[in-house]
Amino acid sequence: MGKNHVCPVEMAGSLDNRFRRWFQDPQKILRPYVNKGMTVLDIGCGSGFFSLDMAHMVGKSGRVIASDLQEGMLRKLQNKIMGTELEERIILHKCEYDKIGISEQVDFILAFYMVHEISHKGIFFKEIESILKANGSMLIVEPPMHVSKKAFNRALEKARAAGLIAIEGPKVLFSKTAILKKS
Ligand SMILES: C[S@@+](CC[C@H](N)C(=O)[O-])C[C@H]1O[C@@H](n2cnc3c(N)ncnc32)[C@H](O)[C@@H]1O
Repeated sequence: MGKNHVCPVEMAGSLDNRFRRWFQDPQKILRPYVNKGMTVLDIGCGSGFFSLDMAHMVGKSGRVIASDLQEGMLRKLQNKIMGTELEERIILHKCEYDKIGISEQVDFILAFYMVHEISHKGIFFKEIESILKANGSMLIVEPPMHVSKKAFNRALEKARAAGLIAIEGPKVLFSKTAILKKS
């Protein structure tokens, strides 16, 4: 099976554009799920549009693992946090195409506009199941254009087959969402 298209590093500017906050405010979207002291994973973090707010939300005692396939994306995030207090809180992690490869369990996982870029979703969700703490949760947000309702539901079926419960997610403008929990 071939690999799906991955959002190129040259597109990072459009993920970071200043208008995005108006319709996808990270704090508003993540407030029900991210609390002080948590360890959270931003998988497919790109240039860190969500990772930065997540780091503020978990506070000094929390950690954000910002993980991406592309070194170039992680470098962009590193440039943003270099010399700031967030440098201590955000752990940059380069993952492999078919392996996230983190060794600790986390309280919350965000996958924003990334699941459709994964070819082997069954493998991905099995690893997610092993990374989530027993009472942890995951928020999946997918874009409307690239991902049909059918494709979104197919992805959720893979998550269920990996032992996760999928329920309706919060409203996010222009997007399809789901919350995953351990069964
Ligand atoms: C459209 S971008 C979204 C970035 C970020 N979540 C945001 O909303 O600003 C998708 C990101 O997922 C990453 N990605 C794609 N496939 C991945 C995989 N198998 N594992 C980890 N990251 C992946 C890409 O490198 C890219 O940075």
